[in-house]
Formats: sequence, structure tokens, C-alpha cells
Amino acid sequence: MKKITQLEKNFKKFKRLTKEEYFIAKEIKNKVKIREKDTILDVGCADGKLSRSLVKDSRNITFLDVNEFDFSPQEEFIHSSFEKARMNKKYDYILTSHVWGHFYRNKSFNFCFNKALNLLKENGKLIAIHNSNKDFTGRLIEFSKGIFKKMEFDVFLEKYLEKADYKEDYFNVKLKAKTYRELAELIQVLIIVPDKLYYKNIEKIIKFLKDNLKKPEFNINQRIIVINKN
Ligand SMILES: C[S@@+](CC[C@H](N)C(=O)[O-])C[C@H]1O[C@@H](n2cnc3c(N)ncnc32)[C@H](O)[C@@H]1O
Repeated sequence: MKKITQLEKNFKKFKRLTKEEYFIAKEIKNKVKIREKDTILDVGCADGKLSRSLVKDSRNITFLDVNEFDFSPQEEFIHSSFEKARMNKKYDYILTSHVWGHFYRNKSFNFCFNKALNLLKENGKLIAIHNSNKDFTGRLIEFSKGIFKKMEFDVFLEKYLEKADYKEDYFNVKLKAKTYRELAELIQVLIIVPDKLYYKNIEKIIKFLKDNLKKPEFNINQRIIVINKN
């Protein structure tokens, strides 16, 4: 049986405490009117909770993730990286929530951006969500860069919006823990450092949090971008 990493456990706890999917879904519903017959491709879907919360019938969603997740037999799950996946249909919406950092790290941002636009129907929309890193999260990332050589965080390259027809908005998701240690554990999710390396250095993160926050909590500022294909 596959051993569950601390990062995976922290990821689940992070989602439970922040209710992030609920806030992201609320922003999406404010920006687009998804009709019952619309098809959605959820890229980097994880357990699919976010896109499932947007529609009545999850059979209209194609879930895709490089990691294995459990889906019901009625649901379509493509177990593949987006880079390698072969899709032979087009979608009304492509949802890409907190995945662009992975593409950036894989040096496939450009490829994935164009692939997503090509997989949209005419008048289709690409929805991207990422941490803006303009707030405390950004300071935390800068501090962490001094400790960890290997880390991953959300990135969206602005140049891809230069010629795009899009609308955007910013919103906050609160990360609140009982202690600074618990907060430091949850922060592993924001900077994706492997367990061994992270826990070896966690005291440094705890100190940074204590020095910079009045309480073990802060807002994670996020951006939603809705890009029209045409
Ligand atoms: C931070 S999670 C976001 C999950 C979900 N979209 C959300 O916003 O709650 C990133 C997900 O992207 C997946 N992922 C990472 N690289 C990927 C790739 N190249 N292609 C497809 N999925 C990828 C990971 O396995 C993970 O489930």
C-alpha cells in the first residue's frame, strides 16, 4: 500500500480548514454562468471536489490529474499529466485551479496555456486560479527561498494575458491554525517542500511566523482569471 506523506495529510487538513474550494467555487459562480449542458475539463482536479460543486451532473466533467484519485464509475477520470493527455473533444470550460505553478516548474506553461485554449469550444472559457503572492504568502515564499533549494509555489505568467480577452478578480481565503507549529505544518502546502527537508527546518518557519504574525493565521490572496477563447 502506498504510504501517505505528511504533505498529503497537510494538504487535506489545509483544504478542510480553509474551505478553499467553497470560496473558489463562489468566485467562479460570480463570474460565469455554467449551464446544465456545458462540459468542463478540470485540469489538476485532485479529488474533483471543486468542479463537482459547480454543476448538478458530474458526468459533464472530465477530471484530469497526474496523480491517481478515486472517482465513481459514472465519472470520467483521465489519469495523466495535462502535457501528455490526449483529449478528442472540446470543452465549454477548462478549469485550472492552483496548477500553473506545476506547469511553470515543468517548463510547460506555454504549451499548457495553448493546449487549454485549443481544447475550448468557440466562445469557451479558460478559468485560472492562483495565489497572487502579493501579500504575506509572498513574503513567506521569499523567506522560504533562503532555506529550501527545492520548493514549488503558485505562479501565473502575466505575459500570457497581454493579448488575452479576460476578466479578473482577487479574493481572500483565511488560513487559521491553533498554534504556530500547526500553521507551519499547513504552510508546507503553499511551498511544497518534501517532508524530510521541510520538517528538518520547520523551527525556522515557526520563528518567522511568530516574528511576523500577531496570531497563527493569515489571509491567502488569490486571483481568478476568466479568459475568453475568442
Ligand atoms: C494544488 S492541487 C490543486 C487541486 C485543485 N485543482 C484545487 O484547486 O483544489 C494541484 C493538483 O495538480 C496536479 N498536477 C500537478 N502537475 C500536474 C500536471 N502536469 N498535469 C496534471 N495535473 C497535475 C496534482 O496532482 C494536484 O492534484
